[in-house]
Amino acid sequence: MLIFHSIVALQQYLDEQRKKGLTIGFVPTMGALHQGHISLINTAKHNNDLAVCSIFVNPTQFNNAHDLAVYPRTLDADSAMLEAVGCDIVFAPSAEEMYPKPTSLKFDFGDLERVMEGQFRPGHFNGVGIVVSKLFHIVQPNKAYFGQKDLQQCAIINCLVQDLNFDLELVICPTQRENDGLAMSSRNRNLSPEQRALAPTLYACLQQAKTQLLDNIDIATVKENLANQLDVIAGIELEYFEIADFETLQPLSGVLSQRALPTKTALCIAAFLGKTRLIDNLIITHS
Ligand code: PAF
Repeated sequence: MLIFHSIVALQQYLDEQRKKGLTIGFVPTMGALHQGHISLINTAKHNNDLAVCSIFVNPTQFNNAHDLAVYPRTLDADSAMLEAVGCDIVFAPSAEEMYPKPTSLKFDFGDLERVMEGQFRPGHFNGVGIVVSKLFHIVQPNKAYFGQKDLQQCAIINCLVQDLNFDLELVICPTQRENDGLAMSSRNRNLSPEQRALAPTLYACLQQAKTQLLDNIDIATVKENLANQLDVIAGIELEYFEIADFETLQPLSGVLSQRALPTKTALCIAAFLGKTRLIDNLIITHS
């Protein structure tokens, strides 16, 4: 496995591989890798000649200095995990390499970023748009792999790829979960044992909300039930729970019942366990 820190060196190497006709599958990450990332690498490896993983904790997508400061940085352990599963190339640039000067670029993804993550983390998707565009230009992959856990990020990147004509295929892979249902996330390692024990509640709540919607309980009541359920659990602070149209991610509201749900509905949650912010989602498909 080759590790590059320099953009130019990586580009030179990848140009040579492309000239040989090899295809590139790309998994952008911020490191602190877990089995969710590894499953993306495995898929990239399976469907391309070369698997490239970037590891870069992107400062422009953090709107909270504490979150950026405590974001785990574990390059040695990450590299060992990637090598063990046969990843071909790691790109681990410094912040100076990626941003030699502050960028004043601004992305605005419209309604897509006015809700949920975009609403509660202002500027977050601007930072994601900037870094993912830069990474796509640097790596020029045939396929790029992202996890469904970051559902709104997937929609934003899909918009980026379409609107800016990136010549690549976006592949969205299912959320990987621990045995107790907790969505795998780099942030899980910041949870205390007590918080870790509470964390699967988020997925359990999403599943209960799904059952209620399928039982024809209206959206407003389902949202209220979930909020009430979490309200009595000390240690979990709900930030948002939305029931949204999967295509537009615009929240559905009111007394809409299951019969009136769109073909695909996304149930999305964000909550704090202490200072650790977790997100999760679940999709309901019905005809
Ligand atoms: O999902 C992430 O880890 C990051 O948002 C990404 C896509 C690597 C951009 O920094």
